[in-house]
Amino acid sequence: MKTQYYTASSLDGFIADPHDSLDWLFPLGDIETTSYPAFIREVGALAMGSATYEWMLQHVVGPGADHPQPWPYQQPAWVFTSRILPAVPGADIRFARGDVRPVHEAMVAAAGGKNVWIVGGGDLAGQFFDQSLLDEMFVQIGSVTLGAGKPLLPRTITSPPLRLVSARAVGTGFAELHYEVPAARQT
Ligand SMILES: NC(=O)c1ccc[n+]([C@@H]2O[C@H](COP(=O)([O-])OP(=O)(O)OC[C@H]3O[C@@H](n4cnc5c(N)ncnc54)[C@H](OP(=O)(O)O)[C@@H]3O)[C@@H](O)[C@H]2O)c1
Repeated sequence: MKTQYYTASSLDGFIADPHDSLDWLFPLGDIETTSYPAFIREVGALAMGSATYEWMLQHVVGPGADHPQPWPYQQPAWVFTSRILPAVPGADIRFARGDVRPVHEAMVAAAGGKNVWIVGGGDLAGQFFDQSLLDEMFVQIGSVTLGAGKPLLPRTITSPPLRLVSARAVGTGFAELHYEVPAARQT
């Protein structure tokens, strides 16, 4: 069981543009040719922040989506928010707030030996890092720059640095990077 932050990012370190748009991402390649299909098979529970959830509601699931689709995850999903947000009928979505540690404990229990996926955003992944709960990062670096937007991981991780495990080109649109994450330095 590993706790993994798996995401796509622009070359300059943004996972969404300043308006939470991902329009830059989808033309870069076919997700089926990336490591995602193998990755998601090993995920037993996932967590996301409210901006990511609201993006899903607006663009994937909700009535406002161009082509509304079912909630894409079979795994239990935790959504971090301080607000009351709508649920998705039939989906296993649990709302949480505050300290990530008890949620992580519940996620590990629910995952049944499979991995725990921190979907994003970057600060939520950082909250798991802060508690030394993040084991690995998988970043699909897209061949674009955005100039500004939602940060990949707004933390300082320098000493010890991340440990690069592998790097792989996916067509001309992505470089897939896999890192092991050192424990957060205790101060
Ligand atoms: N490129 C990719 O592959 C990828 C992957 C994931 C996400 N994204 C996109 O990137 C953007 C991420 O947005 P974001 O950086 O704003 O991050 P986010 O984590 O999706 O949302 C942040 C919000 O979640 C809530 N939250 C976070 N931690 C919390 C805690 N411990 N307790 C209570 N609430 C908490 C807070 O909002 P409230 O309390 O106000 O609800 C916070 O403002 C989205 O547009 C998403 O669609 C892209």
